Parts: sequence; C-alpha cells; structure tokens
Amino acid sequence: MTIDWDTSRGGKGGYAFYMEKEIHEQPDAIKDTVAPHIVDGKTSFEAEGIPNSFFRENQNIVVIACGTAMHAGLIGQQLFHTLANIHTDVAVASEFTYTNPVIKPGTLVIAVSQSGETVDTIEAIKYAKKKGAKVLSIVNVKGSTISDISDYCIYTHAGPEIAVASTKAYTSQLTVFYLLAIHAARLNGLVSEEESSKFLNELQRVPEVIGQILEKKEFVKKMTSKFLLSENAFMIGRGLDYSLLLEGSLKLKEISYVHSEAYASGELKHGTIALITDGIPVVALVTQSALASKEYSNIREVQSRGASMILITRESLYKDMNIPEDDTFILPEMDDMFMPFPAAVVMQLIAYYTSYTKGFDVDKPRNLAKVVTVE
Ligand code: AGP
Repeated sequence: MTIDWDTSRGGKGGYAFYMEKEIHEQPDAIKDTVAPHIVDGKTSFEAEGIPNSFFRENQNIVVIACGTAMHAGLIGQQLFHTLANIHTDVAVASEFTYTNPVIKPGTLVIAVSQSGETVDTIEAIKYAKKKGAKVLSIVNVKGSTISDISDYCIYTHAGPEIAVASTKAYTSQLTVFYLLAIHAARLNGLVSEEESSKFLNELQRVPEVIGQILEKKEFVKKMTSKFLLSENAFMIGRGLDYSLLLEGSLKLKEISYVHSEAYASGELKHGTIALITDGIPVVALVTQSALASKEYSNIREVQSRGASMILITRESLYKDMNIPEDDTFILPEMDDMFMPFPAAVVMQLIAYYTSYTKGFDVDKPRNLAKVVTVE
C-alpha cells in the first residue's frame, strides 16, 4: 500500500483532538477533491478512464459500503435519482452477499471507503465482481486493497484521517457523489450545460460555507448541553435531511455514547413516538424548502410530548418553526440540494463537543478501530 499524502498535514495542529482538526480541514479536503474533476468549467472523470458513455451504459447502481461511507451513499442515491434519473440502491456491505442481489448487465457497483481496507466492503466487491458487475470505488487511501480490486477508482483528497470518527472523509465522499451525479445528468442530457455549471458553482461555494459554520462553533458547543445529562436522543428529518441525520446520529453514538436514533419524521408516529417523553433531546433538521411545512407538524408532535428541541435550519425556514433562538442553529443559505454539507458539519460539532465536554477520548472511542479488518 502506498500513501502519498503530505505528512506535514500530520499532528494535531494545536487542536485538542484530531477530530476537531479534521473537522476544520474540510474546506481544503473538499476543494482538493473537486479540483481534478472540473476541467474547462465542466465535470470530468477522464483521468480515471471513465468514458462519457458510462452512465448511459450503467443505468442501475448499487452502492456498497459500511457505516459513514454507507451514509454518504444514501445522499448519493438521492442525487442520482433527482439529477440523473438512474435507479440506485444502497446496501450495507456486510449484508450484501446474503441478499442474493440482482446484478444484471449494466449494473454498476459503487464501493465507498475511506481506508480502502474494510473487509466487509472488500468481500462485497469480490462477490459483485463474480456476478459480473463493474466496480467503481470512491476511496481515500491511495493504493489500498479496494482501489486495487476495482475497475475504476476515484480518490477523495481528504488527506490522512486519524480520528476514528469519520468527518472530512465523509464530506469528501459526498463531494464525489455530487460531481458524479452532475456529470451523469449532464452527459445524459438531463441537465443543460448552464444548469450543470450552476450546480458546480454551488459545490465550489461549500468550503466557504463550511468556514462560516466553523466561526459559530462556540454556539454549537452551548447547544450540546442538552445531550450531557441524557442517555438517549432522537433526530428527525425528511429526504436529504433524514439521510444526513443517520450520519449525525452515528457520530453521536460512537464518540459520546448517547443512544441516538435518527428517524424519518413521517415514520415516527408508526411506533417510535411512544419513546418521546419529557425532556428527551430531539434534533430536527429542516433544510428542504418543499418539506418544511410537514416537518413543522412533526416538530409540534414531539414538542407536545415534552421533547427538548434543537432545531437546525436556515433563515428562510426558521420563522415558521416556533423554537427559541437559543435552541436553533441557522445554517447559511445554499441551494436545497447542497444543504447536507453545512448540516453535516453542525452534526459533527454536536458529537464532538458532547464527547469532549463529557471528558472522553474523542479520537479513540471504546470498542472501535479506525480500520475494520474483521467480518
Ligand atoms: C464512522 O465514523 C466510522 N468510523 C465507520 O462507520 C466507518 O465509516 C466504517 O467503518 C467504514 O470505514 P471505511 O470508510 O474505511 O470503509
């Protein structure tokens, strides 16, 4: 395995933990991941040998990955659906081989992994290849096993990620999914060149927007006091917000040991709302304009059962939500589709500060390894 990143990026750089440093490195990681794929103002994957006909020939995608990387795939799924009209499934790699997945000609497997060494993902790739699938991987560590055994590999340029909790690798994986979905939509004639460059401009704004969130990190720290005395928490959202909260919830569980469940807001009333009792922290993420009024009702449902709310939303949607300013984080405005980026950073900070304030070793949570090499 060869790792060719700049080792001067090692060390904690004055931050208390690697995780905090890596959260702050996201603007650069995203810039570095975008840069090789915009050539003359257009998306390009030529360097990876991906032909322009690729997404015409591959009209069926299965994303396989574990944990955070799988959560990036869930956002990717919605992007491929919304922008490129390509059917996309997301499979937990450790379950993939047991479900007799349907792999037909034209099925593309996208394997996502920071380390490139996760055994569950490696086994799922081998199985998919045996069944005739082409495999495109999105990997952070150069020369890793997953990049080697894939037909195509797109590298994220997040640099070394030391903290067990993945942060900059996740947002870099999201970045590749945005680039790929825009690319597929453009080449398949589903978005015009003009629309595609509008999307790329928005993607290139992400580093600056993340910088604005980081300036308000002390406010996030204050908000996390709600998690300090609670053993349980819930997170609710719809669409992209729900997918993003699955990741936010995993972060909170793995480093702060708060049992947290992310729920699709509309699904709560089908059972889980029974667990909402007085004082239980509930994070509501509301970034999608078209879904805000439905979300408003779901917030009222949990509030009326005594939930202690944290709202993460944007200025244009806040006025209707009826939650005090002290319990609300206002995200910078972006096109709806790009809101997962700023939301991800707030969720990472919530998990980080909860763990930090509780006095845990943020970078090395109990029972977990950075690279999971057992099935
Ligand atoms: C999340 O913070 C994790 N550390 C974990 O879920 C991780 O994303 C997963 O084990 C997959 O690892 P990989 O990206 O290296 O394949």
